[in-house]
Amino acid sequence: MKPAAPGHVLLCCLCLALGSLCCAHGLWRRGDQEWQKLIMVHHWPATVCQEVENDCRNPPDYWTIHGLWQALNALGTGDSSSSLGSRLSLPDKAEECNRSWHFHLEEIKDLLQDMKMYWPDVIHSSANRSAFWKHEWQKHGTCAAQLDALNSQKKYFGKGLDLYKGLALNSMLQKLGIIPSGNYYQIADIRDALAGLYGVVPKIQCLLPKQGEEVQSIGQIELCFTKDLQLRNCTEPGEPVAVGQGAQPAGAAMNLQVCEDGPVFYPPPQETNR
Ligand SMILES: *[C@@H]1O[C@H](CO)[C@@H](O)[C@H](O)[C@H]1NC(C)=O
Ligand SMILES: *[C@@H]1O[C@H](CO)[C@@H](O)[C@H](O)[C@H]1NC(C)=O
Ligand SMILES: *[C@@H]1O[C@H](CO)[C@@H](O)[C@H](O)[C@H]1NC(C)=O
Repeated sequence: MKPAAPGHVLLCCLCLALGSLCCAHGLWRRGDQEWQKLIMVHHWPATVCQEVENDCRNPPDYWTIHGLWQALNALGTGDSSSSLGSRLSLPDKAEECNRSWHFHLEEIKDLLQDMKMYWPDVIHSSANRSAFWKHEWQKHGTCAAQLDALNSQKKYFGKGLDLYKGLALNSMLQKLGIIPSGNYYQIADIRDALAGLYGVVPKIQCLLPKQGEEVQSIGQIELCFTKDLQLRNCTEPGEPVAVGQGAQPAGAAMNLQVCEDGPVFYPPPQETNR
């Protein structure tokens, strides 16, 4: 077969890109995206604050909730928080399942104390914090709402807080002796230790080394649940632990990706610029 002319290749890529765009759009429009697993996404403020142009001020010195998301299939679960990213990559998460279900802060007023503590908007600490919760509800909560256990804002955020507290990631890491440090850990050691403790394999995401640095920083730890809210592996059997970066296009707001095997930095909070 004759190799395709560059023009054809380009055209094909364009079609593919448009195809996935239309596909994602179609799924989104249907509002009935069938997802398979819930992902409790924890993030490490010290790393998150290095990553983004931000107004992090006094970031928490503990792992906080980024969100409670839903995955469509076995593909990666990189944060596609940039709308560009989620449109240009194949959809791997259920998102924005019901645009007419608006966020109402008063529905979660009983949870506010915990929300401020455990689910803060780390990156925009001076913004109206409920904007972050509104975003998480519209993007992820409206999809989670397919489950009776999560079919209201109070249930979605309340269950998110419950799962977070139940996992107790902060104290588990501490118990495992994995504490923020100027020394490096091996990513496999962290993953294996957590897998041993929870009985399921987490997905760990890192910030790539900055210029002049050699080592990635741990940024996000995901633990996954079935629709019955039971812990399950984040990856499918046979799926490589370090999947491709398809869901993590350049220019994504949060440039985290599945960690490379090898050394990883778990930066102490006080070393981030405030
Ligand atoms: C979307 O949310 C609105 C408001 O809660 C609700 O009335 C409607 O039934 C929902 N639509 C679907 C398809 O779930
Ligand atoms: C923050 O936004 C919510 C609505 O999302 C609004 O009810 C609240 O008054 C706002 N708070 C401030 C301080 O602007
Ligand atoms: C979870 O992953 C571990 C390690 O890869 C594997 O041994 C186990 O069978 C998996 N469990 C399920 C239910 O797939």
